[in-house]
Amino acid sequence: MQTLSVSLGDRSYPILIGSNLLPQSNLYVPHIHSRQICIVTNNTVAPLYLEELKNKLADFYVDSVILPDGESHKNLETLNLIFTELLEKKHNRTTTLIALGGGVVGDMTGFAAACYQRGVNFIQIPTTLLSMVDSSVGGKTGVNHIMGKNMIGAFYQPQAVIADISLLKTLPAREISAGLAEVIKYGLISDYQFFVWLEQNIELLMAGDEAALSYAVLRSCENKAQVVTQDEREGGIRAILNLGHTFGHAIETAQGYGNWLHGEAVAAGMVMAADLSMRRGDISHSDFNRITNLLERSNLPTKAPQEMTPEQFIELMGVDKKVVDGRLRLVLLKSLGSAIITSDIDAGLLLETFAACR
Ligand code: NAD
Ligand code: GLY
Repeated sequence: MQTLSVSLGDRSYPILIGSNLLPQSNLYVPHIHSRQICIVTNNTVAPLYLEELKNKLADFYVDSVILPDGESHKNLETLNLIFTELLEKKHNRTTTLIALGGGVVGDMTGFAAACYQRGVNFIQIPTTLLSMVDSSVGGKTGVNHIMGKNMIGAFYQPQAVIADISLLKTLPAREISAGLAEVIKYGLISDYQFFVWLEQNIELLMAGDEAALSYAVLRSCENKAQVVTQDEREGGIRAILNLGHTFGHAIETAQGYGNWLHGEAVAAGMVMAADLSMRRGDISHSDFNRITNLLERSNLPTKAPQEMTPEQFIELMGVDKKVVDGRLRLVLLKSLGSAIITSDIDAGLLLETFAACR
């Protein structure tokens, strides 16, 4: 097992990464400072891992809430199911919530912990690759509103993150690929050596090799922790974690949430960001090909949907075709392994990217 720390003063916490961590309750029990626990999970993950976790916490008073699975349930109505359980079972301010699930469960549990009696402790046990490398780390919590994704939320850090790689063995291959998009993102924005390692090991990761996955999760979390410790509340540098996300968000919106997984849209979005970076002369054609090759080998899309027009992108990204400069901020690549945040964007080049990447 490897442990790394997210250093945020009195809000610092460890991330434990390794195989078969769930059965080893001695690893995570020290981070639970209460007698009461409420495990929050969903109806897909509960039959797989809830009983095992409950059995390991036999010395505590344990309640659980099983939410309906899916991004469409990430809203205030579902959040209320957590509050109702906590109130019905008389959980007080010293309780601990445990998120057992992917990013949807993690974001909602974290937000519930931030709000319940003005803040209680919580622990993340992420069960998808995406949640291990991204959503469980860094303290962004929240729910969707009908008018926008993740629009209601709080920055609220957990007491610990327990990334048990063995839980990924039940995760569908498509979800592994979606998580790999975020893993590749770290190589692109801040870690060229990791990008090279990914080129050499992508097939092992796709095959579920636990040693390779542990290393990829560790390296991803190290990269994310480094950014989050510099800029917890996204006043500046944290925005580089959004490489490909502005383009990807336009794709998700156009396609309807759920049709493209978030990681899939981010993959196509990162290709668009790389294409624009190449047109600006910052990365070479061969760098661009290395990026698309790695994404293709991860079974990820490298083009936006054919039917999406440049006009649609312009509209969904909320910019005026003639006034891109100064309005739109994008994360682009300065080189392979280094990103910049810029609003100095040439509208003509952007239109060329829209046309080339579908
Ligand atoms: P998800 O939580 O919907 O999980 C994907 C699917 O896998 C679900 O059907 C889930 O039930 C299932 N699943 C989870 N673990 C499993 C397992 N071990 N075996 C079998 N099936 C399993 O999706 P996700 O990709 O984990 O997370 C996406 C969410 O994360 C979005 O809501 C997004 O907004 C959020 N997010 C948050 C942050 C952040 O910083 N807080 C960052 C990135 C994404
Ligand atoms: N997923 C982007 C962030 O945590 O800032």
